Amino acid sequence: MSLNKSFRVAVKLSIRSYCVQRPFKKTPKILITGGLGQLGVECAKYLRGKYGKNNVILSDIIKPSTEIFNDGPYIFADILDFKGLQKIVVDHRVDWLIHFSALLSAIGEQNVPLAVRVNIEGMHNVMELAKQYNLRIFVPSTIGAFGPDSPRNPTPNVTVQRPRTIYGVSKVHAELLGEYYHYKFGLDFRCLRFPGVISSDPPGGGTTDYAIAIFHEVLRKGHYDCYLKPDTRLPMMHVKDALRALSEYLEAPNESLNRRVYNVTAMSFTPEELAKEMFKYLSGFTISYRPDDRQNIADSWPQVFDDSEARRDWNWKPEVDMDNLVKLMLKEVKEKIDANGF
Ligand SMILES: NC(=O)c1ccc[n+]([C@@H]2O[C@H](COP(=O)([O-])OP(=O)(O)OC[C@H]3O[C@@H](n4cnc5c(N)ncnc54)[C@H](O)[C@@H]3O)[C@@H](O)[C@H]2O)c1
Repeated sequence: MSLNKSFRVAVKLSIRSYCVQRPFKKTPKILITGGLGQLGVECAKYLRGKYGKNNVILSDIIKPSTEIFNDGPYIFADILDFKGLQKIVVDHRVDWLIHFSALLSAIGEQNVPLAVRVNIEGMHNVMELAKQYNLRIFVPSTIGAFGPDSPRNPTPNVTVQRPRTIYGVSKVHAELLGEYYHYKFGLDFRCLRFPGVISSDPPGGGTTDYAIAIFHEVLRKGHYDCYLKPDTRLPMMHVKDALRALSEYLEAPNESLNRRVYNVTAMSFTPEELAKEMFKYLSGFTISYRPDDRQNIADSWPQVFDDSEARRDWNWKPEVDMDNLVKLMLKEVKEKIDANGF
């Protein structure tokens, strides 16, 4: 037996010693980390609709609202506590791990040491965990994994990646570590680079947040003060498409995947173009522009994302275009404002 083959066998045996049964023949049991952020709660709803309420466990380090707690299984999970994560995987017989915990681009720049811990040490923990227990692991990456040296219009799947934020650096690290674990240990690592994801839930402190805040502010106050210049073009996607992409990619057979990391997108627009589209349905609001530090971040990111490889390999196709996105957001944000009374 060659050294390479005997090494692979040894790795497989060590994985098996943590897993008595082969997973995936049954409905998968899914754990979502960092689940109380912008994407986690909606993701749990989406996947519970598909796999059953009790098969999707939401987790985070923060206390959930009564509504979220009553919606389905919710547990405490700190991604910096490896033993705690092991216990959860064993106790709940987890098969798939969706790793959402992170400090996003703007927040990460305000606390670099914490971003290093959560985004890099946390990633090490979940990768080891997935390897030990033979989990399928999904880690989202971002347009922020590119930098000023990358081609920006369009940005292909494989190109120069030299990001200038700790968020971007940590995501490139995650992409490379995941690919490495896949090729070295056979780990079923899957990663999508999302553009700005737009939903009516409060965003987590990223550079594309303006495209959510603008709806909340104009519906509440009739005015939005934008922190990016009017002509800043960035790729975007409605949360419905983001979750469908995640779910379809998680289910794609291994044989169809030529990569472990794929770009996905739905559209690209500027703040000025978004406001123009909103004027079609809502008159009488105003918008002003006062660029801050986030402008520098946005200026180093892709303007148009090339997702042709995802379209080719697992038939990715967005459904929500800009017109629909604006209609959905106006409706959903208005409902939230009415329900919360402010
Ligand atoms: N929202 C977007 O537009 C977007 C775009 C591209 C990629 N992503 C990625 O998707 C994922 C989810 O994004 P989001 O917008 O929901 O983020 P978010 O900031 O809204 O939520 C992140 C969650 O991580 C949790 N967290 C922080 N430290 C933790 C720890 N030690 N242990 C466990 N949880 C911890 C936070 O409490 C928070 O609820 C992130 O990895 C992000 O990089 C998001």
